[in-house]
Amino acid sequence: MEKLIINGGNNLYGHVDISGAKNAAVAIIPGAIMASKGVCVIDNIPDIEDVRCLERILESLGCKLKKNNDTVNIDSSDIESTNACVEEVRKMRASYYLIGALLGRFKEARVELPGGCPIGVRPIDQHIKGFEALGAKVKIEHGAVIVKADRLIGTKIFFDVVSVGATINVMLAAILAEGTTTLENVAKEPHVVDVANFLNSMGANIRGAGTDVIRIFGVKELKGCNYSVIPDQIEAGTYMIATAACGGEVTIKNIIPKHLESISAKLVETGVEVISDGDSVTVKSSGKLKGVNIKTLPYPGFPTDIQQPMTTLLSIAKGRSIINESIWENRFKHADELKKMGASVKVEGRTAIIDGVDKLTGAVVKATDLRAGAAMIIAGLIGEGTTEIVGVEHIDRGYPHIEEKFKKLGASITRSTI
Ligand code: EPU
Repeated sequence: MEKLIINGGNNLYGHVDISGAKNAAVAIIPGAIMASKGVCVIDNIPDIEDVRCLERILESLGCKLKKNNDTVNIDSSDIESTNACVEEVRKMRASYYLIGALLGRFKEARVELPGGCPIGVRPIDQHIKGFEALGAKVKIEHGAVIVKADRLIGTKIFFDVVSVGATINVMLAAILAEGTTTLENVAKEPHVVDVANFLNSMGANIRGAGTDVIRIFGVKELKGCNYSVIPDQIEAGTYMIATAACGGEVTIKNIIPKHLESISAKLVETGVEVISDGDSVTVKSSGKLKGVNIKTLPYPGFPTDIQQPMTTLLSIAKGRSIINESIWENRFKHADELKKMGASVKVEGRTAIIDGVDKLTGAVVKATDLRAGAAMIIAGLIGEGTTEIVGVEHIDRGYPHIEEKFKKLGASITRSTI
């Protein structure tokens, strides 16, 4: 067990390099299972626990993996098993992509139900609806999803809710199906587009990713390819918010500014300067911030994954801010932790009402989930005195080398065992 110890109060200066996108990588790695020949050489893979967990799962299925810094080579030509029922599968959310990938290639799979951050009920009914529409029989037994099909046949599927996971999973299952599959009311997140681009590099024929409708024209087989994962929009947003909250000037490098538009716009509303330049964005902040209202929405709206770090910033912004969380029903657990540091946050259902205070003060707090962890780090960075954060394993699932990156910007942050 480890904890992070932060001495707050430093401004942040310098630059930070953003890693590959977690939520793209955790779909691309299972996607590589679909190559029946050749090797997928995937670059810009973030060094995070969710990725390491997936790599272990792929090895348990018989894939051969070779790792070299942020590149992973995946050879799935000799997969021996379609049974993903190792403990690792239950530890993370994205393991559900194994269902679509194995079903697509082998017409069958047995995959433990996924785990992931405790941010509310996380159903997979839309994934199942898509698999069934393609012709698969789906049942849930002993905590595992079992899917089987004689044939997968392209069809039209209209999703009831906009879901990143269902969009990608059903896309995976449809790639080798007979005929054309049309997915409507799909998610448009940058990582959905990235996964489609990766699969097209393997020989898939997917059109329309990034719009409301995706068409998948069935192909006979997929093969290895070379691919580089896009930069992580949420990691970038986290460093932007940290800079805005702490004050200072930081250039966030290796990003796609277009993916950050909703975050940049909101930060500008708080009184911060945000300057985009090619593949970087610079945030300049005096640390004097104004309250704003936020509603989380599917892309291109304000991302739910940035809501928690933003709550911390708003806790010291002048005036009242209101956040409406429209994606997850229980994503305000960080509010109680922020209150231990002096924040004034009142949660009513899916709404948080934040009255800005002059300062936060250091305390022992918990990272209750991944992005709550980022929120607590930012709270520690702005807080007066020392903050200790436990539950660091949540943070390690999704933020590569977080304390090294913040240290380089001038933060006082160390890790120690409990
Ligand atoms: N939903 C359903 N039925 C389904 C699927 C989803 O009702 O079958 C609902 C969910 O309950 C939720 C909404 O649809 O209310 C959106 O869920 P979505 O399926 O888009 O979420 P997800 O795929 O499980 C991914 C990210 C999350 C991120 C959401 C929303 C991964 C591995 N996870 O989850 O990331 O919050 O999309 O953008 O890609 C994080 O990185 O911290 C994180 C939680």
